[in-house]
Amino acid sequence: MSSNVISPGATLLVTGAAGFIGSNFVRMLHERGEDRIVALDKLTYAGNLENLEGLDGSSRYTFVRMDICDADGVAALIREHRIDAIVHFAAESHVDRSILGAAEFIRTNVEGTRILLDIARGQGVRRFLQVSTDEVYGSLPEDRPEVKFTEQTPLQPNSPYSASKASADLLVRAWNHTYGLDTVITRCSNNYGPYQFPEKLIPLMIANALEDKPLPVYGDGQQRRDWIHVRDHCRAIDLALRRGRSGEVYNVGGDNELPNLTVIEDILSILGKPRTLIRYVEDRKGHDRRYSIDGSFIAAELGYRPQVEWKTGLRETIQWYVNNRGWWERIRSGAYRDYYEKQYAGRLSGGQ
Ligand code: NAD
Ligand code: TYD
Repeated sequence: MSSNVISPGATLLVTGAAGFIGSNFVRMLHERGEDRIVALDKLTYAGNLENLEGLDGSSRYTFVRMDICDADGVAALIREHRIDAIVHFAAESHVDRSILGAAEFIRTNVEGTRILLDIARGQGVRRFLQVSTDEVYGSLPEDRPEVKFTEQTPLQPNSPYSASKASADLLVRAWNHTYGLDTVITRCSNNYGPYQFPEKLIPLMIANALEDKPLPVYGDGQQRRDWIHVRDHCRAIDLALRRGRSGEVYNVGGDNELPNLTVIEDILSILGKPRTLIRYVEDRKGHDRRYSIDGSFIAAELGYRPQVEWKTGLRETIQWYVNNRGWWERIRSGAYRDYYEKQYAGRLSGGQ
């Protein structure tokens, strides 16, 4: 049992805070108003400070632009802010990019995690929460729908992305076992919701449909994913951070396994756009056919169940992309990269 429970009012270092899930997590905690948050992000192509807009000026929130591989910088930051726990989202996260080139995935996801673990250990950080993915388990059989990923499923990653995440998870396990660092791993299924970068399936399909552009479906479109609203994922991470047991892994799912084609048809139907926008394209190399989470362990241990129903969550998400067209148009045009300079020019010093 962990004696290291992170209570409300803690100081948290959130890495990858300007990405999709990290920014939703920071917003959730900030709204609750209890913890102090140090939000760290390198602002790669996937990091966007607009995702954290409105939080600036809050006494409980600090943003720092930093690479997790900058060991001296991160160590100084943790000392300066007396960090109680690290919630580690920062990663290269897109499978298709990992197939084009894995170097950044190994650097950030594996070496970056090793650096954070060493600093956490050296500085007495009380808990390290590794945000991982169900993709580390590989692909499930399509003809046995009753078989799902449990925490005992062997790690059999198939893509450079999932291999890098599995490697990081193994480092986290080893730092727990060897050095006694208090660690918790969450492995969640595919997320959807506001602020998701429009290279991932759901926001890409929404944005293309809104612009009457073709929707590229890989292969036969029958690959299955267990879709979960990002709000539910963030709740699960928060529970695991506060009450999870050290050394434990918690799978997190949406109880919502769907073929990609169904997801795309649901988007078209909500938007009132025609099926003729669908284009079948060449399949992804090594494409995993099926992911599905058995969420019974986290339900029993932490009382967690997903709450956002698929059609409600999807409608709400589509509405967000309709209302925030400028956000994704600036990403698609590349203009969002100027935001940091405009927003922060002359206002930050040092590594920030
Ligand atoms: P994302 O790509 O939207 O965000 C990643 C963030 O990390 C970006 O803001 C990026 O700038 C930052 N980053 C990248 N390299 C960095 C570095 N070296 N130093 C500091 N910051 C760096 O990804 P996401 O979808 O928000 O995923 C967040 C985490 O959750 C990842 O670890 C991912 O593996 C995991 N996860 C994602 C999903 C999903 O469906 N999106 C599901 C399960 C787990
Ligand atoms: P993605 O959002 O990239 O998540 P992941 O690969 O991590 O599960 O893709 C979700 C599914 O959608 C996956 O089976 C690949 C498929 N896909 C397409 O069919 N077309 C696309 O343009 C994209 C980006 C994904």
